[in-house]
Amino acid sequence: MSKFYVTTPIYYVNDVPHVGHAYTTVVADVLARFHRMLGDDVYFLTGTDEHGQKIERSAAGRGMTPIALADQVVQRYHALWKRLGITHDDFIRTTEHRHQQGVFRIFERILARGDIVKGRYEGWYCTGCEAFFPESQLVDGKCPDQGHPVERVAEESYFFRLSKYERPLLEHYRTHPEFIFPETRRNEIVSFVSSGLRDLSISRTSFRWGIPFPSDPKHIFYVWFDALANYVTALDYSGDRTLYDRYWPADVHLVGKDILKFHAVYWPAFLMAAGLPLPRRIVGHGWWLRDSAKMSKSRGSVIEPNALLDEFGADAIRYFLMREMAFGQDASYSDEALIDRINSDLANDLGNLASRTLKLIETACGGRIPEGDASVRREADLTPPTRAAFEGLVSRFKALDFSGGLAQVWTLVSAINRFIVEKEPWKLANDPTGKETVGPVLYQAAEALRIVGLLISPVAPFAARGLWRQLGISEDPANGDLSAFRWGLLPPGQPIARGEALFPRVDKKAYLSRIPEPQAGTETAARPAAPSREKEKKVEPMTPPASEVSMVDINEFRRIQLKVGKIVAAERVEGARKLLKIQVDVGGEVRQIVSGIADKYAPEALLGKQIVVVTNLVPATIRGVESRGMLLAAEDAGGAATIVTFEEAVPPGSSVR
Ligand code: MSP
Repeated sequence: MSKFYVTTPIYYVNDVPHVGHAYTTVVADVLARFHRMLGDDVYFLTGTDEHGQKIERSAAGRGMTPIALADQVVQRYHALWKRLGITHDDFIRTTEHRHQQGVFRIFERILARGDIVKGRYEGWYCTGCEAFFPESQLVDGKCPDQGHPVERVAEESYFFRLSKYERPLLEHYRTHPEFIFPETRRNEIVSFVSSGLRDLSISRTSFRWGIPFPSDPKHIFYVWFDALANYVTALDYSGDRTLYDRYWPADVHLVGKDILKFHAVYWPAFLMAAGLPLPRRIVGHGWWLRDSAKMSKSRGSVIEPNALLDEFGADAIRYFLMREMAFGQDASYSDEALIDRINSDLANDLGNLASRTLKLIETACGGRIPEGDASVRREADLTPPTRAAFEGLVSRFKALDFSGGLAQVWTLVSAINRFIVEKEPWKLANDPTGKETVGPVLYQAAEALRIVGLLISPVAPFAARGLWRQLGISEDPANGDLSAFRWGLLPPGQPIARGEALFPRVDKKAYLSRIPEPQAGTETAARPAAPSREKEKKVEPMTPPASEVSMVDINEFRRIQLKVGKIVAAERVEGARKLLKIQVDVGGEVRQIVSGIADKYAPEALLGKQIVVVTNLVPATIRGVESRGMLLAAEDAGGAATIVTFEEAVPPGSSVR
């Protein structure tokens, strides 16, 4: 048994997760699940990156402490990973004690090697990327990597002697061609390092949110030095090291292409200096784009995964992400593409095949897996295409070609469909001379479907389990074996349990008209995003006609969290006549809310007002401004809003029922 240690990047807690973040974690989860099914001893780590200037500023902008922001956002990550079926073994937060201790230990080893020197950093800093850039690298005065604004920094700093590792790094890339994947990214890194490395500033003194230097606490660690260390600190590197000894070096550090330089240049150099083994592979994936630009919060073009999960479920999202993106390259997200995949591959091809096969077993074989005959269980018509799909998926997933691997399974799904059409088991069942053959035909289809369940389990774990249950198998395919192809394991006589459709069809037209595609660059797709924008466009009475009112029960109503809020600041949103940006104290936390009440209220008239806020609404970005909640207001027939307030003072944060 070999060990397999896979990691995701640790996510910044300045903001809630979006589909881009979900993608990196889903890929890591698919790899972890796949390697478990190969029989490997898997360790899968994810977590959050909680220090640095970006988070300090983001928290200040919300009137919160950085740790309060981190505590809040980390919950969003936990909840999202649960919904997406992510099977990580550990979740590290860089504000944990074990992490801090580990960072000290690595630092001490590098210090002892003589690779840390004190000096002064003067140059540019990009808070968006948390990266230093010399003047010569700026493009139009902006950060060369992502076009973020940069700031001038001049401060005392400790430097890591990165320049010393230029040659050893190049040597490592040369002798370990597999170290950086894919090849194109490897070439980029090789040419970056070949063009010369400067020593790297690894401490900051101009703000406080970080791990202080043990010997000189006015310095805090540069956030990337702190963050990269997570891959070993999570393995109890400063503690008893059992996990470290068992799993380090990592087999795959999975990262987006934007952060490859940190992982393929800085991290191995730190490790070399600390005298620790290097990870086996750094794998850089492409970006999910909207309108040819990276989906990103600052551009207001993110897709909110929870809304997609509500609508389509985890399997469909996971399948889409893995199938649609040729791994390593960029891909464009659209609702249409997602729904097309769901309808054609999942509902139509696989879902219909399963329900058709199970229905035939019900009617022609009394609802039990047919006997077939022994020879069919050893080898039959469907054995070769099933074996080909099995071997095809396993070899492609090993080569990180997830889309290609899944395509192999869908070739098999078509082969099973064709086989059923050709053999016409429904006719055989009614024909006395065909009774003998209907069993073997349906046995084969059911057995091939069992193997389809096994193959899709890393990507669509819930549906795979559902498929097995319908075939009457109580085990979870996630515990199945992908290390060797085995045909004929489905026990004849086993009662099947045909249930609900595995993948319901999505009414694309209805969905798209209900939820308009967001315009990249203007507004998030944090669905439902429509109301505020709709209001900007046309004025409609808020109350729908009586015939459209649907009743909710008390539990549904309770899911909506309503709280008393006190307005502490308000201003207009530039370029949006009707919108105000309002800061509301909802009890120990100040929320920013964007509301379409500027027609009726001047910002200053709102100060101190007590209002009712929906506090568990999915955050949205409206006209490029983040809105985390909604205030309640009555709307008259002309569309003017009157806010809901209280007769007498109530403490902010009180719940409203
Ligand atoms: N905190 C650092 C990583 C430190 S690892 C020691 C960071 N965090 S992040 O939250 O900004 O991004 C985490 C991951 O999400 C990166 O791998 C990034 O590439 C990925 N994505 C963010 N937006 C993305 C897309 N639009 N598409 C695909 N993935 C992208 O960087």
